[in-house]
Amino acid sequence: MDEWTPTSWQGSVASQQPIYPDQERLDEVVAELTALPPLVTSWEVEALKTHIAACARGDAFLLQGGDCAEAFDSCRSDRIAAFLKIMLQMSLVLTYGTRRKVVRVGRVAGQYAKPRSEDEESRGSESLPAYRGDLINRSPFTRQDRTPDPELMLRGYERAALTLNFIRGLIDGGFADLHHPEYWDLDFVEKSPMMNEYKRIVEAVRDSLDFMENVLDAPEENLKRVEFYTSHEGLALPYEQAQTKTVPRRQGYYNLTTHMPWLGMRTADLDGAHVEYFRGIRNPIAVKLAVSMTHDWLTRLLDVLHPDNEPGRLTLITRLGVDNVSEHLPRLIETVKASGKQVNWCVDPMHGNTEVTSSGLKTRRFNKILGEGQKSFEVHADAGSILGGIHVEITAEDVTECIGGARGLAEEDLERAYRSKLDPRLNYEQAMELAMLVSHELRQNS
Ligand code: PEP
Ligand code: CO
Repeated sequence: MDEWTPTSWQGSVASQQPIYPDQERLDEVVAELTALPPLVTSWEVEALKTHIAACARGDAFLLQGGDCAEAFDSCRSDRIAAFLKIMLQMSLVLTYGTRRKVVRVGRVAGQYAKPRSEDEESRGSESLPAYRGDLINRSPFTRQDRTPDPELMLRGYERAALTLNFIRGLIDGGFADLHHPEYWDLDFVEKSPMMNEYKRIVEAVRDSLDFMENVLDAPEENLKRVEFYTSHEGLALPYEQAQTKTVPRRQGYYNLTTHMPWLGMRTADLDGAHVEYFRGIRNPIAVKLAVSMTHDWLTRLLDVLHPDNEPGRLTLITRLGVDNVSEHLPRLIETVKASGKQVNWCVDPMHGNTEVTSSGLKTRRFNKILGEGQKSFEVHADAGSILGGIHVEITAEDVTECIGGARGLAEEDLERAYRSKLDPRLNYEQAMELAMLVSHELRQNS
């Protein structure tokens, strides 16, 4: 294999890329981005790698979640605080169920670029470039809006910085303190059919907190400190490349826009530019696996992306669809076993269960999402393997995008508050319910 550099991907075919009309402006923007300070540090990136290694061993559990695509106009304090809160609450419930430390990774502060099945979108007789996320172009169906604009990468980087800055500030200020009333009060819970279950968990956690503080004398500081990490799909290669740097006293290059970038299946071809880019960075990385992932393909990806079997380096996120788990997950687990490498297995129960309603809305059924989660735990247990995490598309808002859940959202309800421009997300109540049901089951079976 040839020598790797942050730009060596440019020698391979890069799929899912926009065509920028002004190459010169693109180059200037990349240079500007490169000159800015990073969003994350290599210490944090290495710390996350250590935590992911613990997930792979079954000593911790990864909760990765957030929007399908962040929108620039969602970069607002109320939304960011609500998102942090739901991640903290879900992680608390999962800690209770898994009895493991939960590692929180947001799809946040950079999840602005999306892969699309078609390069162009047609309406009537007009065809325009597809909307690829706010980092690339704008969603209104006009030629001006849809023309890829490199400035948007600067705007995205700034918003990612603002988002992360606010998250760091909230955490430093005690937002995640388990004693903080904000932490517990769930706006949805009073009305929810899951209220009793949630209250029971809260009581149990409160009891153990009291026990730790009063009986074991655990220092209060330790109970207040939480870590929060970021991730996004590493799709827009000029953006990823711009902040791929060496740092003093460490070997190799780090992508400093995010702690854990992931590679989608659509860009996982072995001779493609994305795999070339990902192989050279030192971050913990993830790869999504759909049913079309073959034994040979995965074996070679493990060779290229995980050559040294470094603990915590590679997370494999399966997104198979509830009906395909029993058939495909065992063989994927076998392939990894045959490679002799250790990975962190994670399930994305969302993306394999997307359907379109008769009125043309993209949706997902809560039961199928839960079902894929449950089946994946079972298959891993049967195979003597460990499921080390869950990856979900959630929002803290009261949207109606996924069908089902305790409140029984029906297809007719979707129109009421369907806000996603892309994939349907679990709303606050559904996300908490998923965490509680998974948690309940894990506790019973462990
Ligand atoms: C996503 O995570 O939003 C996504 C596009 O997933 P996938 O590549 O697994 O379809
Ligand atoms: Co999505």
